[in-house]
Amino acid sequence: MLNDQRSAPLFAALIKHARQNPAGFHIPCHGQGRGLPPELATPGGQSLCALDLTELPGLDDLHNPTGPIAAAQELAAKVYGSDRSFFIVNGTTVGIQALITALVRQKKVIISRNAHRSVLGGLVLSGADPVYVLPDIIPGFEVDCGVTPAVIRQALAASPEAAAVLAVRPNYYGVTGDLGGMAGAAHAAGIPVLVDEAHGAHLRFHRDLPRDAMEAGADASVQSTHKLGGSLGQSAVLHLQGALVDTDAVAAALRLLQTTSPSYLLMASLDLARRRLSLQGGELMERVLCLAQSVRAKLAGSGNLRILTADCLPGENCALDSSKLVISVRDLGLTGYQVSQLLAARYQVFVEMADFYNIVAFISTGTTPEDCDRLVGALQDIAARDKLSVLPPQPAAPSLYKRIMKPRDAWFARSRKVPLAGARGEISAEVVAVYPPGIPVLNPGEEITGEIYEYLLLVSRLGLACQGPSDPTLKTIKIVVE
Ligand SMILES: Cc1ncc(COP(=O)(O)O)c(C=O)c1O
Repeated sequence: MLNDQRSAPLFAALIKHARQNPAGFHIPCHGQGRGLPPELATPGGQSLCALDLTELPGLDDLHNPTGPIAAAQELAAKVYGSDRSFFIVNGTTVGIQALITALVRQKKVIISRNAHRSVLGGLVLSGADPVYVLPDIIPGFEVDCGVTPAVIRQALAASPEAAAVLAVRPNYYGVTGDLGGMAGAAHAAGIPVLVDEAHGAHLRFHRDLPRDAMEAGADASVQSTHKLGGSLGQSAVLHLQGALVDTDAVAAALRLLQTTSPSYLLMASLDLARRRLSLQGGELMERVLCLAQSVRAKLAGSGNLRILTADCLPGENCALDSSKLVISVRDLGLTGYQVSQLLAARYQVFVEMADFYNIVAFISTGTTPEDCDRLVGALQDIAARDKLSVLPPQPAAPSLYKRIMKPRDAWFARSRKVPLAGARGEISAEVVAVYPPGIPVLNPGEEITGEIYEYLLLVSRLGLACQGPSDPTLKTIKIVVE
């Protein structure tokens, strides 16, 4: 057992990573400081640690702000076009959980089935009852492109008692569906649209980027400013507008769920990121989009790498955040996971994510032209050296699911791990999602139907990567014991 108290393994791993001169295409977008507002690096000539403070006189209180935090939030609301904005120190995750807890409570909520796992946390905390709707898929990349307004209208007709619609926009791959249409459908039913906009803090600052949620008519959105807006990791902002959302209830839920010791470094980074984006956002995003375009152009000639473009999207109301590079490596005969690992091990190039068919590289304010050259060079080298055999197609995931109990009830029920072979017909106690498209085939409280069971057997046999289950190899699965 590790017992050398002189070691600091995490710190050492971070230093080792930083020393290998990595080219990073991942969050947080500041690229190890390069894309941070410059004032944050040495604030007023002091070390950054000089700002690591607490609720001292003059420094306000996040949970009941009346001074500089209130003013900073008000400025954020102005630039993002909301009625009220709240700083968050535990990521979009806690913002989504607060929205569900405050605005859905124990009622039904229409949810895009590709929702991030933070939504499950909100459902478990509140006892809300999800009605899942399926997004469309972009053929070839197998990436989702949002739920259509017609599907939302149908779900609302079947569940008129729903308290809200919850959308993910943009998704992890930078694709935005028809949020205006979804909002129209929800508002016609008198309920709000809540948007997981973790990947959208930069959108409003350039005309070539998709509209953001506030502009498209959402009632609430949560943005991970740390991901693409240039603040420190974990910092995020929640925006509200209109009369369909209860601002006081959301504030109360945030008080309930957030730490009582919010980091002033995180909050200051949100303040500075907002200032920088509002004063120079157009310029910054222009540079980001030019860099992304240059990578696209250089890779366009590599016959066996295909990049997701707006032309691939079905429907004119879908759009693409083209600062994200979704690169299909399928024709190389390698999985996205393999290419991501090769990039890291051989070239010290780190992408944000990989799935079976694709890698996803984020170009952002911390990205340099040299980083982009390294990405292009490494991919071209892999394409020339590493072609394997033809990649077998991934099995199609079942789209039908059978809800037996609420996620909260399944979460708190007794559960046990059983071999997958014995799980047919049982109730799942956990999420199982395969990427792409990352849409769960199972959520807690849903039946492991015959069709799902056969699919999971195949996934396990092929060794496909799964997210959510306690045993990612799927040899065992957690079921509810009633
Ligand atoms: C679509 C989506 N929603 C929500 C989140 C959670 O955001 P955070 O990490 O800021 O809590 C993520 C994080 O990756 C995400 O990709």
